[in-house]
Amino acid sequence: MHDTVLASETRTVVSPGRIELGAGAVEALGGHAARYGNTALVVATEQIFEFHGDRVIDQLETVGVDPVVYTDVRPDPTVENIESAHARYEREDCDMIVTLGGGSSIDTGKGVGILATNEGPIREFGVDRAGYEGVPNPTPPLVAVNTTAGTGSEATRSVVVSDESTSTKFLIVSANVVPDVAIEDPVLTQSLPKSHTAFTGIDALTHAIEAYVSVKSYSVPDGYAEEAMERIARSLPVAWANGDNLDARADVMVGQLQAGQAFTNASVALVHGLARPLGAQLHIPHGLANGLILPYVVDFSAMAAPEKYAEIARILDAADADDSTRTAADAAADGVLDLCADLDLTGYLDDFGEVPTREEYLDVVDEMAQDAIDSGSPENNPRKPTRDEIADLYLTIYDDALAPDSPRRS
Ligand SMILES: [Fe+2]
Repeated sequence: MHDTVLASETRTVVSPGRIELGAGAVEALGGHAARYGNTALVVATEQIFEFHGDRVIDQLETVGVDPVVYTDVRPDPTVENIESAHARYEREDCDMIVTLGGGSSIDTGKGVGILATNEGPIREFGVDRAGYEGVPNPTPPLVAVNTTAGTGSEATRSVVVSDESTSTKFLIVSANVVPDVAIEDPVLTQSLPKSHTAFTGIDALTHAIEAYVSVKSYSVPDGYAEEAMERIARSLPVAWANGDNLDARADVMVGQLQAGQAFTNASVALVHGLARPLGAQLHIPHGLANGLILPYVVDFSAMAAPEKYAEIARILDAADADDSTRTAADAAADGVLDLCADLDLTGYLDDFGEVPTREEYLDVVDEMAQDAIDSGSPENNPRKPTRDEIADLYLTIYDDALAPDSPRRS
């Protein structure tokens, strides 16, 4: 493939320093930790620590590294989480950070790392205040033991933090927070419940699709994204239906890693722009919000990048190699819908209480549209939406997927 960008411009590719892949990869932790010092802050949620904490502690103790355990991580980590974990890091004179878990644990660990080597409260490093690459100094050694598949945070320069004082989330983006070591052991994902397999898997698919169509993408993230989509499309339904299938778990885990590598070297786009406000309003997980929105944004955007969407449709088995570009691009949204239906994605809405009535929803659509625009993510979309078009998308999503009597729920 010719590279029209790299023939005339340069790009920086960010990546974890080392990636340990495959069943048993967690056993590489001790060797890495031994290189980094004597004391490790271990950051996890209580539940994940109960499941897998022993393996991590054994690895550290075997090589003579003292673990200092912090298990107060919340599902959406807060400023307070990061500050209290950082206080432990300093008090116990830690040399490294080991995270155990998915995006929440990893992002807490990244936040601790920022505070350990940089001046100022964590809020000041948000892209809205410090800009992109607004973290001046690298974090201390950071090892991410991933247990989901997933946010891809073990491979990215992003940190998402909840600011409870304003009920908003802010984003930090810096190459200085990319973990030194990412450990991707699919055995650790076998215990994920079906709902989490669906949410995190669709989040990863969304990362791959958004990176692939982003106006910031080019050949290198495109390559990661294509392979990520292939792995997730073929193996996510299998891993969802049978969580013990290690072949499928491994395939999805590598797929989500590649999806993380794709978006951190390109960007996310309109789906993530819409998903953050919708998730906050409905109190639903990030991956579920993405999955509810993705088919509509694909439909909205396909004609602005037909060749990319045609390829997406072919990867999702919604079009054949001999379909025209236009026919295939038109089918991409159906491919996404079919995959979401295979995972019974809308069925999970019932687990999160009642969806607002249409009138209640109408009251917040304008605010959500403004939040989506303010996030900057819609700017990376191949078709740039107006504010009215974003509001229309939110309404279509309600009528088609969210309302109790909507077609996707009945
Ligand atoms: Fe995401």
